[in-house]
Amino acid sequence: MAEVFEGAVDRGLEGIVACTTKISFIVDATLNYRGYTIEDLAAHSTFEETIFLLWNDRLPKKDELEKFKRALGAEMALDPAFVKVLKEIPTKGVHPMAWLRTAVSAMALWDKEAQDSSQEANERKAIRLTAKMGSLVTAFERIRTGKDIIAPNPSKSLAWNFFYTLTGQEPDAEMVRMFDVCLILHADHELNCSAFAMRVTASSLSDIYSAAVSAISALKGPLHGGANEQVMVMLKDIGTMDRARTWVKEALENKQKVMGFGHRVYKNGDPRAKILRQMSEQLTKKIGQPHWYEMSALIDDTMQGEKGLLPNVDFYSATVYYSMGIPIDLFTPIFAASRVSGWIAHAFEQWTNNRIYRPRGKWAGREGLTWVPAEKR
Ligand code: COA
Repeated sequence: MAEVFEGAVDRGLEGIVACTTKISFIVDATLNYRGYTIEDLAAHSTFEETIFLLWNDRLPKKDELEKFKRALGAEMALDPAFVKVLKEIPTKGVHPMAWLRTAVSAMALWDKEAQDSSQEANERKAIRLTAKMGSLVTAFERIRTGKDIIAPNPSKSLAWNFFYTLTGQEPDAEMVRMFDVCLILHADHELNCSAFAMRVTASSLSDIYSAAVSAISALKGPLHGGANEQVMVMLKDIGTMDRARTWVKEALENKQKVMGFGHRVYKNGDPRAKILRQMSEQLTKKIGQPHWYEMSALIDDTMQGEKGLLPNVDFYSATVYYSMGIPIDLFTPIFAASRVSGWIAHAFEQWTNNRIYRPRGKWAGREGLTWVPAEKR
């Protein structure tokens, strides 16, 4: 007789508490990292400072921040031998997230400390992985378009280098600041699917690269990070303002999910979406294509009216990245380049009080069967 587990099984573990955490916390329509609201950080912090905060549970002093930025800057460049391999792996018809997953896995093979699980080695690997993630995303774009890889400028920020290594041009300062805010907004989000995947793999005491590969794989899905690029695909498919309302109504009638809406935890709105909405309005105007924002706002309005669903982080980030000239299929890899900082914070937290994740399944299958030879089945 199978062991009986009492209580309902929640599909998707809704409402289940899987660990205690001090990294980020959602209450109603608010999000904080280490006790600071996301609005406060978006207004005043930088991505580098936010990473330090997530990893160290405090804001850095001025000299600590400078040292931390130097450490990140020193690790942004990719090893030439590794780049040679990256040029050999397919890019044609390959989703950038699949490529990124493979690249991060391969990168571990160049790291002599990959198997060293000491605190000091883990801290160095954390810097290495975080600093290189954006460089990998832009390397993918350069390789698939047949262009040379551009060496990052270690004295500049991760946000600045993202554009520089993508295009080879010095980026516009206002755009860099907005992108930096996007990186802050995406850095962590409590026990989301990919952070949980990171923690589950880390809990087996596997290494940081392996855990990050699990997290990237989880983020790739359209129900998680993959939604932001799907939003832009949808906006392009709708094409013009006059089609927006009907398109959404038809999608809902057909029980189709409209990407960039709804959330497991936020039922009264995602605070990140509010900040991104303003950025979307500003940036689409700046590039002379305000219709992308206007269409988004109309879809937002229709979704609220028809289904009571509010936009999540992915909805307005789509038009923000699009206005920055970033290719649509790089939107989710950018998410990874930011979220890697949160994933690492989760691995560190997991390791401070580790116990391997090993839940149970409630048995719902048959019992008591007896094997019969194939010819008698
Ligand atoms: N479009 C249309 N309907 C949606 C919807 C959306 N984006 N999100 C949720 N719903 C509906 C579901 O169809 C379901 O309706 P029903 O009760 O009539 O069947 C109800 O709302 C609950 O949805 P469910 O998928 O069970 O919620 P969840 O908590 O499991 O999932 C998300 C949360 C985020 C995965 C879900 O809202 C979604 O798939 N959104 C689109 C993808 C997306 O933007 N992901 C990024 C998340 S940051």
